[in-house]
Amino acid sequence: MKAALEAIREKARKELSEIADTKALDALRVQYLGKKGELTAILKQMGSLSAEERPVIGQLANEVRAQIEQDLEDKLASLKTAMLNRRLEEEKLDVTIPGKRQAMGSQHPLSIVLDELKEIFLGMGFSVVKGPEVELDYYNFEALNLPKNHPARDTQDTFYINENILLRTQTSPVQIRTMEQQKPPIRIIAPGRVYRSDAVDATHSPLFHQIEGLVVDKGITMADLKGTLETFVKALYGEDSVVRFRPHHFPFTEPSAEMDVMCFNCQGKGCRLCKGEGWIEILGCGMVHPKVLQNCGIDPEVYSGFAFGMGLERIVMRRYNIDDLRLFYENDLRFLNQF
Ligand code: DAH
Repeated sequence: MKAALEAIREKARKELSEIADTKALDALRVQYLGKKGELTAILKQMGSLSAEERPVIGQLANEVRAQIEQDLEDKLASLKTAMLNRRLEEEKLDVTIPGKRQAMGSQHPLSIVLDELKEIFLGMGFSVVKGPEVELDYYNFEALNLPKNHPARDTQDTFYINENILLRTQTSPVQIRTMEQQKPPIRIIAPGRVYRSDAVDATHSPLFHQIEGLVVDKGITMADLKGTLETFVKALYGEDSVVRFRPHHFPFTEPSAEMDVMCFNCQGKGCRLCKGEGWIEILGCGMVHPKVLQNCGIDPEVYSGFAFGMGLERIVMRRYNIDDLRLFYENDLRFLNQF
């Protein structure tokens, strides 16, 4: 029996030394010390020993047991240390490695200039309002005094969703929505996307941006219109900018005008930039038509107003000398990173 105990001690030590994980260690513990384990099996035979042998073997059995327990414990400790070291090694952070540089986005040129425009008008006491891009025919045309047979209402030019619903072709419907909701005094600009059924080329896109303006109050005259728009142009293009107003026609204003800025390149003489004109058209404007005021429940005998509308793309193209409108929408980083 003594020899059997010694053999177990040796076998356990050998097997223990080959173990590489805690699961195998547990199995080994059961194998030797468990209820049906090898050591237990031997201890169960103690009864057959003589009175002299029993204490000797008993003591040896206890020693072997204690030895195996101690070895198991030591092995567990060293496995844990090895596991921890492996983890530390795997998860090691080298704080000296240079960080990954996060690419900083830049603002889109249309947004940069739009923000600037908003600032200018906010400074003159305007507020910024929004209207829907999917619009009712009533707001886009009818209420703006565009008769049913007006060429702009042609399906060739306008994206219709059904007979009454369309993609707005201008920001002017926001005038109507504003006047329906607010009583004068009104001083708003309404920037946003507009849509027209145009083929894409260097100066046309089925989607572009406009900025609408509307002022309604008692005693508003053409002088307010001219003063406001001249102030705006000087803020945008510089104090020495020169503007002129040309008579024009818009159904929702009377009288109507287009405003030109003198070409900065040739000072009005005519050059390639202004196509020999000396002037560059930048917006349409006029005194709000009495019928339009009436359509919104505003008495044209008491109130008057002026309105204007301009295309954002064109202003931005002038600002940065961009000659192709498509660049705005192509998301080419080589273009966008320049701003
Ligand atoms: N809505 C016009 C267009 O798209 C621009 C315009 C002209 C707006 C005159 C106005 C205005 O408010 O008074 O061509």
